[in-house]
Amino acid sequence: MSDRLSELLRAAELGGGPDRLRRQHEAGKLTARERIALLFDPGTFVEIDALVTHRCQDFGMADQVIPGDGVVCGSGRVDGRLVYAFAQDFTVFGGSLSETNAQKIVKLMDLAVKMGAPVVGLNDSGGARIQEGVISLGGYADIFLRNTLASGVVPQISAIMGPCAGGAVYSPAITDFIVMVRDTSYMFVTGPDVVKTVTHESVTKEQLGGATTHNETSGVAHFAVADDRECLALIRTLLSYLPGNNIDDPPIGEMTDPADRESPELDTLVPNQPNQPYDMHDLVTVVADQGSFLEVHAHYARNIIVGFARLGGRSVGIVANQPAHLAGTLDIDASVKAARFVRFCDAFNIPLVTFEDVPGFLPGTTQEYGGIIRHGAKLLYAYAEATVPKITVITRKAYGGAYCVMSSKHIRTDVNFAWPTAEIAVMGPEGAVNVLYRRELEAAADPGALRAQKVEEFREKFANPFVAASRGFVDEVIEPRTTRRKIIEALSRLSTKRDKNPPKKHGNIPL
Ligand code: HXC
Repeated sequence: MSDRLSELLRAAELGGGPDRLRRQHEAGKLTARERIALLFDPGTFVEIDALVTHRCQDFGMADQVIPGDGVVCGSGRVDGRLVYAFAQDFTVFGGSLSETNAQKIVKLMDLAVKMGAPVVGLNDSGGARIQEGVISLGGYADIFLRNTLASGVVPQISAIMGPCAGGAVYSPAITDFIVMVRDTSYMFVTGPDVVKTVTHESVTKEQLGGATTHNETSGVAHFAVADDRECLALIRTLLSYLPGNNIDDPPIGEMTDPADRESPELDTLVPNQPNQPYDMHDLVTVVADQGSFLEVHAHYARNIIVGFARLGGRSVGIVANQPAHLAGTLDIDASVKAARFVRFCDAFNIPLVTFEDVPGFLPGTTQEYGGIIRHGAKLLYAYAEATVPKITVITRKAYGGAYCVMSSKHIRTDVNFAWPTAEIAVMGPEGAVNVLYRRELEAAADPGALRAQKVEEFREKFANPFVAASRGFVDEVIEPRTTRRKIIEALSRLSTKRDKNPPKKHGNIPL
């Protein structure tokens, strides 16, 4: 290697220099290159544009030129599969985005889309390079455009591993998944100082935009991890469920767990009392291939569970009502959370498996004023437009509009199972009796006895899966213990499914 080349490459390797690298470690963070090394299979990363430099002449910048200009870009292998990634280098001008730095990211994204490979962005940046002004802002917009055009074409994953503020947050926001590292990362549109000036609120960076805030309260982030290592390991795991692009099928894993494994514990999972909760996680983890369930958005809108799993080695997207939280009702947050997940799975050919126990949409002024009609419609729309294989298992309640929404037969679900404990009706027995027998109950000598009798009659008639089964709305009533085998068999039958929506520019999902 020529002296000049090795000198330049060493300078690129060193980024902002030993002092700044040490400070990065002292802050509990790995460097951009250490992160890249952990993301990819060892020895597979090929860097591009290591020698790119900025063109800024102002503010003394002509004397501060670092090859690579604050972002490490390239491709490599994750479990042998091609993935593109960029890692912002906080040691070089705070990882700030310059014109050339943005051009590197844009180039990488264009390559990823052409190659049909996922893009992983490791964000750690002070935002727009202040010395470059509007030129840097233009660079952001160039990236936002790429994020949007790549959406639904290749999976895009963002890790927030340091600051991510101002308009810079909108690149991760357009990507499919955001992972935040606890204590060292934050995201906000305006920082605490601006907040104080405008709204007089006193808030810390962590409260305003830390990993807990965005995983539990805002729902902006999908995962929270303890440190950089866990972050990169999680991204590798997440990629293992996903195809490289919207034309490929997801990878099929090894059969690690017998397809016909029965789960007798499921026969007693649903309590005898209809209002008693149970943890839907127990069902999901027992049915999925052992240890394969990766929950997404675990801390947000916990009344619905979404995540990836394998069934007989095949990747599936799981959506499940959670009776242990808000009785499993659908509210605004749960609807939006599940709708986005359903659309991701549909875009990337990942079959959807829905476990349903839903008493209905959450009533109340908070929900109505917040627009539950519009937001609930997102979930309905997402399920209805999805053309991937769709399988539903009704374990208990399937009431009202929520019955229609949760991957019912009527919106093109391919296989609808119900357990014998399923209750499928317009509303629960108590509510139905209050509406249907209001006058009789008012006039009755013993309204309590009359109500109990009518509730029992209603339960007998509708609170079972057999009316729906007699109409073909449920294909099969199955014993709970056989659920895993039944789903795996159905997935195998559906693996050749082809379905299409009418040609259009795009639909108008009620945003
Ligand atoms: C150029 C920057 C920079 C930036 C940080 N640096 N941010 N250089 N442009 N935006 C440099 C610092 O000068 C410093 O250089 C080094 O990076 C590390 O920064 P520190 O401040 O020492 O680090 P720390 O104390 O950890 O604080 C990090 C920080 C702070 C909170 C990110 O640097 C900061 O507030 N930066 C400005 C953030 C900002 O307002 N950005 C513009 C946002 S608006 P030396 O040489 O000392 O190591 C935006 C719009 C995007 O981004 C719009 C898209 C549409």
